[in-house]
Amino acid sequence: MPTEQTPLITTVRVSSHRHRYSHNVVRRFCTIALSSILIWFSLAFIILAFFSTIQIPHHAWPGHHRRKVSYEQLRQVLLDTPSSKEAEEWSRYYTSGPHLAGKNESQAIWTKEKWEDFGIQSEVISYDTYLNFPVDHRLALLEKKKGEDGASSRKVAFEASLVEDVLDQDSTSGLEGRIPTFHGYSASGNVTAPVVYVNYGTYQDYEDLLKANVSLEGKIAIARYGGIFRGLKIKRAQELGMIGAILYSDPGDDGNVTEANGVATYPDGPARQPSSVQRGSVEFLSVLPGDPTTPGYPSKPGVPRQPTDNILPRIPSVPISYMDALPILKALNGHGPAAKDFNRYWTLNTGLSYKGVDYNIGPTPDDIVVNLYNEQEYVTTPLWNVIGIINGTIPDEVIIVGNHRDAWIAGGAGDPNSGSAVLNEVVRSFGAALALGWKPLRTIVFASWDGEEYGLVGSTEWVEEYLPWIRKANVAYLNLDVGVIGKYFSAGAAPLLHRVIYEATAGVQSPNQTVPGQTVRDLWDGQIHVMGSGSDFTAFQDFAGVPCLDVRFTGHEHEDPVYHYHSNYDSFDWMEKYGDPGFLYHRTIAQVLSLITAQLADVPVITFGAADYANALEGYVKKVEAKLEAILLPRSERDLDISMLSEEAIAEIRGSHQNTSRIDINDNDRHRRHGHNDDGKPSAELFKKALERLHKAVSELTTSATKLDSQAKELARRVEEEHIPWWDWPKRLKLILAIRAVNTKYKYMERSFLFDDGLDGRPWFKHVVFAPGLWTGYSGAVFPGLVESIDSEDWTNAKRWVDIIENCLKQASKRL
Ligand SMILES: *[C@@H]1O[C@H](CO)[C@@H](O)[C@H](O)[C@H]1NC(C)=O
Ligand SMILES: *[C@@H]1O[C@H](CO)[C@@H](O)[C@H](O)[C@H]1NC(C)=O
Ligand SMILES: *[C@@H]1O[C@H](CO)[C@@H](O)[C@H](O)[C@H]1NC(C)=O
Ligand SMILES: *[C@@H]1O[C@H](CO)[C@@H](O)[C@H](O)[C@H]1NC(C)=O
Ligand SMILES: *[C@@H]1O[C@H](CO)[C@@H](O)[C@H](O)[C@H]1NC(C)=O
Ligand SMILES: *[C@@H]1O[C@H](CO)[C@@H](O)[C@H](O)[C@H]1NC(C)=O
Ligand SMILES: *[C@@H]1O[C@H](CO)[C@@H](O)[C@H](O)[C@H]1NC(C)=O
Repeated sequence: MPTEQTPLITTVRVSSHRHRYSHNVVRRFCTIALSSILIWFSLAFIILAFFSTIQIPHHAWPGHHRRKVSYEQLRQVLLDTPSSKEAEEWSRYYTSGPHLAGKNESQAIWTKEKWEDFGIQSEVISYDTYLNFPVDHRLALLEKKKGEDGASSRKVAFEASLVEDVLDQDSTSGLEGRIPTFHGYSASGNVTAPVVYVNYGTYQDYEDLLKANVSLEGKIAIARYGGIFRGLKIKRAQELGMIGAILYSDPGDDGNVTEANGVATYPDGPARQPSSVQRGSVEFLSVLPGDPTTPGYPSKPGVPRQPTDNILPRIPSVPISYMDALPILKALNGHGPAAKDFNRYWTLNTGLSYKGVDYNIGPTPDDIVVNLYNEQEYVTTPLWNVIGIINGTIPDEVIIVGNHRDAWIAGGAGDPNSGSAVLNEVVRSFGAALALGWKPLRTIVFASWDGEEYGLVGSTEWVEEYLPWIRKANVAYLNLDVGVIGKYFSAGAAPLLHRVIYEATAGVQSPNQTVPGQTVRDLWDGQIHVMGSGSDFTAFQDFAGVPCLDVRFTGHEHEDPVYHYHSNYDSFDWMEKYGDPGFLYHRTIAQVLSLITAQLADVPVITFGAADYANALEGYVKKVEAKLEAILLPRSERDLDISMLSEEAIAEIRGSHQNTSRIDINDNDRHRRHGHNDDGKPSAELFKKALERLHKAVSELTTSATKLDSQAKELARRVEEEHIPWWDWPKRLKLILAIRAVNTKYKYMERSFLFDDGLDGRPWFKHVVFAPGLWTGYSGAVFPGLVESIDSEDWTNAKRWVDIIENCLKQASKRL
């Protein structure tokens, strides 16, 4: 605009110098008046053009009358449109055939066409990704027998079935072309060796085994599922020289809902089906998600491929049911130490005692061995994301909503297709609003990802491809994975997004109307957990620095029907009977996600909580201090009363102690910790002092964040209440520019916490506040650089991380 004003003003001045006659004064006056009117009109025109592109929903503003659908009407459409019946129909479709990553293009096309029917422009985007598909497998228990001639031979004592039973009452379990039990990204191999029971296979479990002198090298591990991400159980086994791994589901982790407790098993009751198997990826997810051959860049055809040595296991593994595990666990009876000789972590949920399992550690003697054979075909093959877009009026503010479509099985009624059915209802609802003439302020992108199960492949490759645009324009990413497997609302989110979850859930009625009128918020304890990994938000949060959330309805573990995760019994029939009879909660979560999307996409002032972020950071610094204190305590004072902890908390503690060779520290070591090391490097005490700098930086951030939030609140109030007269363009323009400035600050706040070099040993992870725990995989670690340095007692590195984080905090304060 200044470039257009300046020449006009110059002309006025020049003419005034040339004519000095009195009648020219009138002319001069007329020229000035005319010019002023011209300026006024061109300004008005520019502003008008500006306003008509940004139709801020303020009643006094031009363009507003053209908004056919108000925000309140939009919310009503989003609450009224989703239906249980339609969700059930989509669920039935997605679960009616196999849809392993890269194997079902027709589901991608079907989804795209549905979204277009709903009125959303959509396309299929494909990547060439490295995936494995099962060819053959075998698991057998062999016993050496001396023949009559004195020669010894091996007799098959037990041959594992490795298949899940076909059940009359579950039609998916018998589908043609159903998918065998296997691990995504597992190594091919054929190994025969004695077996060792390694409990959950956490870092700490293996440490306990080493301490007890249990021989691991050359042995095959049998680990129970639970606690940490499965690939990490295999990673540690491999590091310790073990040659194969068997993962089984122990009913001891199902709480009271067990056959041992007299509860009938699926399909007759809600307890675990004894033949059910948890498939799943064994990629080292906390090191690198996505296509393992293309770290940091998209898997487009023809791109260079990297070796996978540090990201995929080199030892073979198979997942099995507890039926198949029983003979192997029993073969361990009487061999090596008993679990109860270790510590309480080993006897928490020994759920097969009633079947005669003593939970001995082993190893089995040399004449009792296991043969584990696993053959996988590795290929580079296309997979298909579906992307739908609603253009907003502000081009560089974008909300992305995504769910994956691929499953390990033909079913997947919970994981992920309850989410897929719900996403379709969300897309349909926004389509209904568009049909009424609504247009959002911000662009909305819907994504149906492929390849999530193997390692968040579809979403990661997409983020890697569009990274510059995402970093510039993406305001928030909203994830849905398992949408519904029970009745209890659960959420994980970046702190900036906490507010919007509270507000949206308070606007949606719960299907539970025991107390009439109660909302989802009324029945939810308000807990929001930290984002870890294990779903498609990872690349957005940890690689692109976009605030993310993930919402679902889940069951209460240990009380509600057992959810058959990654098993054939995660089926439409299970969902209809146990997970969400009537698909009521499918409709509800669609309403919640729609309201969240609408609030972020269509409210003029972005409703983020910057102070919430600063407060959370203060809490995280305290958490780091507590961890440091615990490390500095003598061993005896450090022991926790684990009987009071949840299984999740135990897994976190046990998974996060990555290297406990220093758990038993002698007094000399303790002395060293509190002073300087001999070589003058920083000690724990110095590190503790350095942490005080973080408190200071966080408190500065709190000040600027609080200021930003109150500015935002004031602007939101003005948009709501202020009546700016139609002719007062400058005032309106000023308001718009102020909103724009606040929104931009909110948009980039999360980006301040990206560190280009990434975390130690896993440079793809760029966020200094959030990452999956290195040895937990699913659950989120805060300040991973600090926590890992404390774990390895590397105080030099710990101090380096204080500097890095302090820098990020200062940068964030400066930007706000
Ligand atoms: C893909 O999924 C659809 C619907 O679930 C199913 O009918 C079809 O058989 C599947 N295609 C393949 C190749 O498995
Ligand atoms: C696996 O190796 C054993 C020998 O250790 C061999 O007898 C068996 O045939 C092999 N299995 C397969 C499927 O190759
Ligand atoms: C562990 O085994 C090694 C050698 O195999 C032995 O030297 C050591 O004493 C054993 N430690 C314990 C605690 O049994
Ligand atoms: C199992 O049920 C008993 C009695 O109903 C209860 O006290 C206990 O807390 C339950 N255990 C779990 C793990 O839910
Ligand atoms: C949305 O905007 C993009 C880029 O400007 C354009 O290519 C696309 O056709 C638009 N879509 C719709 C539905 O208007
Ligand atoms: C249903 O609502 C009642 C009343 O608020 C509550 O006590 C109960 O726990 C709720 N049940 C579920 C499954 O949400
Ligand atoms: C554990 O820590 C010790 C001492 O810091 C170190 O020597 C050792 O290599 C570490 N082990 C692993 C597996 O990181």
